[in-house]
Amino acid sequence: MRIEDPKIVAALPELGVQLKPGTSLAELTSLGIGGTTDMLRVTKHETIPDLLNLLDAQAVPHKFLGGGSNLLVGDGELPWVVLQLASRQPDIVLQRNFAQVDAAADLGRTVTFCAKNDLGGMEGLIGVPGTVGGALRMNAGAYGMQIGSYVRQVKLYRAAARKIETLEGHQISFEYRHTSFAPDDMMLAVKLELPSKPYPEILKGIRICNEKRRASQPLGQKSAGCIFKNPPGASAGRMIDELGLKGLSFGDARVSDRHANFFVNAGRASAKDMLALIAGVRERVEKSFGVILEYEVVVWNA
Ligand code: EPU
Repeated sequence: MRIEDPKIVAALPELGVQLKPGTSLAELTSLGIGGTTDMLRVTKHETIPDLLNLLDAQAVPHKFLGGGSNLLVGDGELPWVVLQLASRQPDIVLQRNFAQVDAAADLGRTVTFCAKNDLGGMEGLIGVPGTVGGALRMNAGAYGMQIGSYVRQVKLYRAAARKIETLEGHQISFEYRHTSFAPDDMMLAVKLELPSKPYPEILKGIRICNEKRRASQPLGQKSAGCIFKNPPGASAGRMIDELGLKGLSFGDARVSDRHANFFVNAGRASAKDMLALIAGVRERVEKSFGVILEYEVVVWNA
């Protein structure tokens, strides 16, 4: 979608927003799939409500893009614009056991920065790509931990109230790959409380998680991590593997040979290819196991 309305174009600089016309989302997502649209880079939190009022007044649909690492975007010219937060520096500020982190900060960098300052707890998240805001929205987790356990406060744009609010940790529910945030809320910053641990000890944990991940996941390939959530008490990856579906392809979209719940873009896969592969695998799992797998990946296909 193109922003051509002169009223919007003229107002953007004052709102601290940069317009990047015709941005390819394939270049901004870890799957390397997605069409084009105009992107708005937001540099000031406090102008977000005005920006969204302006877009709504001119009937311009929008979506919030984080690090693009858990996202499958449709093909072609997209029917909405994308808003992305520019990171504010410094993006991580530590005080005792608290880390105040910008939502646009890189998750891996946040884990290592905190570790070097003797703050642990997030070792399992090392190797999870994306931003802190994205991890927060999805309650990212691995190897027995989830980010929600450490969240004490979140600053966000609340779409329903149309304003920036600060929520205390106890006002937010964090479940398995799910949170109580609304889909159109925009994460802005988070305060984490992390346990003190000496750096060498944290590093040991980080190395163990890194090794496990390298051994079981296709890290060098374009993917969005796990495609499906694990159903209660079961593993989506194991079920897909048991059906012998590793290597199954639709165009260049392929079930990873290493981990059956990772679907990779082995070349120039389109969203259409990837969605067909996802639907096919889902159907086979339902037929064989009677389980309807839920998406873990976020799909923007309309
Ligand atoms: N397994 C197979 N074949 C496969 C894949 C897995 O038999 O192709 C078996 C494994 O041998 C193991 C079991 O299934 O016995 C579980 O596998 P794994 O330990 O790899 O964990 P997972 O349940 O498949 C979850 C998360 C991952 C996270 C890992 C490590 C979900 C959907 N996935 O995977 O998160 O990295 O645990 O904690 O919850 C993600 O969120 O995108 C993601 C990759």
